[in-house]
Amino acid sequence: MSTSRLLTHLRHVDLAVPDYDKQLDFYAGVWGLTKVAEDSGISFLAAEGSPEQYVVRLRKADEKRLDLVSYGAATPADVDTLAEQLLSTGVKLISQPGTVSTPGGGYGFRFFDVDGRTIEVSAEVEVRRHRKIEEKEAIPVKLSHVVLNSPDLERTRTWYEQHLGFRLSDTLSSPHMGDVMHFMRISSQHHSMALAKGPHTSLHHISFEMRGIDEYMRGSGRVTRAGFTKIWGPGRHTAGDNTFTYFLDPHGNTVEYTTELEELDEDTWHPHVYDFSQPEVADQWGTANPMNELVAKESFNDPDRGSFVAPPV
Ligand SMILES: [Fe+2]
Repeated sequence: MSTSRLLTHLRHVDLAVPDYDKQLDFYAGVWGLTKVAEDSGISFLAAEGSPEQYVVRLRKADEKRLDLVSYGAATPADVDTLAEQLLSTGVKLISQPGTVSTPGGGYGFRFFDVDGRTIEVSAEVEVRRHRKIEEKEAIPVKLSHVVLNSPDLERTRTWYEQHLGFRLSDTLSSPHMGDVMHFMRISSQHHSMALAKGPHTSLHHISFEMRGIDEYMRGSGRVTRAGFTKIWGPGRHTAGDNTFTYFLDPHGNTVEYTTELEELDEDTWHPHVYDFSQPEVADQWGTANPMNELVAKESFNDPDRGSFVAPPV
């Protein structure tokens, strides 16, 4: 089975929610994204520093769910190759490669991952006119990574390695729980996606990269002052060496501000297994509230209603 790497980067994460207006107010308001398009209960939110057309899509729906996670491919030929590879290994395609109808267009297709999440892969999406984020401008530069809860961590990790060419960067483990998180990369960035051991399939968190430490702290303070629930942080992880502050969005999805995610030398990198029960592993700085079961539980999220159900758009 091929493990060639055909994905280039994470493009966007799409969410469906019942209280659409409240959700949009959060992401386009205090969180600092920019609404670039909206049509009949669907909005597209860009990060000002990112060439992606949008990094979050919100859709009004009766039930909260993860609609999809989208990745880039380098060329339409790579999109076709990936689709053929997936088909030949029995992966269920939701759509065949073709024109993408969302902002920026492109050529792509959708399929279910092993847990039933909808994944989209596309190439030739028009780039958005973006700009340099200025000093003290505390808004997301770009999407950093996404973390997904999986009830069978090893099965999901193997699937992503075998079908999408992800490679393991590091693992968090604890003496009484075993492996709890695998950080997975598709580039020299330490992780574009991570898999967390959860009680069910769901979104763990979406992470947004800020310009630097000052902007990350200013942003974290703004969201805290606005009264949103901060569940963990500020601190700096050992795996990935990135900063973190985690909040809950109005529907209980966890969102993170981060900076400085580690860039690896992929030729020489060997994955670590870090003991997550050590406070210094969870937070090098020692400024975050302790990671405990209550904090972990927040990011289990609700069981995803979108498992093996393709979003309508
Ligand atoms: Fe994260």
